[in-house]
Amino acid sequence: MKIFITRNLPTDLAQLNAYASVEVWPERQPPPYEVLLAKAKAVDGLLCLLTDKIDQQLIANSALKVISQMAVGFDNIDIAAATAQKIPVGHTPGVLTDATADLTWALIMAAARRVVEADRFTRAGLWRTWEPDLLLGPNVAGATLGIIGWGRIGQAVARRAQGFDMRILYTSNRKCQPEVEKCYGAEFVTLDKLLQTSDFISIHTPGNQETYHLLSDRQFALMKPSAILINTARGTIIDQEALYRALSQKQIAAAAIDVTDPEPLPMDSPLLTLDNLIITPHIGSASRQTRAKMADIAIANLIAGLKGDRLPYCVNP
Ligand code: DGY
Repeated sequence: MKIFITRNLPTDLAQLNAYASVEVWPERQPPPYEVLLAKAKAVDGLLCLLTDKIDQQLIANSALKVISQMAVGFDNIDIAAATAQKIPVGHTPGVLTDATADLTWALIMAAARRVVEADRFTRAGLWRTWEPDLLLGPNVAGATLGIIGWGRIGQAVARRAQGFDMRILYTSNRKCQPEVEKCYGAEFVTLDKLLQTSDFISIHTPGNQETYHLLSDRQFALMKPSAILINTARGTIIDQEALYRALSQKQIAAAAIDVTDPEPLPMDSPLLTLDNLIITPHIGSASRQTRAKMADIAIANLIAGLKGDRLPYCVNP
């Protein structure tokens, strides 16, 4: 058996070596598409990341028995094509819930209390004295948090919000059980109502055709001028040109995004000129423990696929 891993992983590969000969792409940048195409023809198992485009062409021409993605999201993989070829696709749900909810909260707090701007201000030598109106932001405690997407991560964000005595609204494909709503003190509303009512809006829905540009000009127009938008899900969910208009025209107060479309964000993006926007480089799951667990699950999925067993975390229907 042969395996290709598209980047160095933060874990020990010893258990994999027992099953297959392992090749790891050694560079910091992802393998080019042509390399992926060639490897997919030559190996039994592929362990990939969200930066690797695993499309219909690659899948149809491959010898793969299993595709294992080290991420919970899999919008870079053509799942229908893999399913048609009977190739199981694995992912790593659950283990990154807390890390991603933590980063969401880091961004909520940083955007509300203007932490990044304040740091830039201090380093620029502008801190002359204590001023009554310096770098003011809104209260987080007691505010209304609107959560778009009520899966594991959305609920973990809500759990943390309870400590801030927030009113919690959520929108999702369906209303959840009353016991769950009660546990979080959360209220199911339409997307429009959530946008009109929330002080903080946080996105926790997968990136796919259904959620592509879910937030565009019409949705920004519904938000409060004081609203703060957070995105730790996928860049494609926000229409970035509309985001630029909303932030530059102060239609909303601020945003903090950990994901962009494309990634990385090109250095000539107008978004980089905005003071009321924080951008981090897709680090939602970036705690040491979380990344190690993600790698371990990706390896477990890969081994199961090579053995012909059901993957512990399988994406295909
Ligand atoms: C995921 O897993 O989908 C995150 O975006 C990266 O950890």
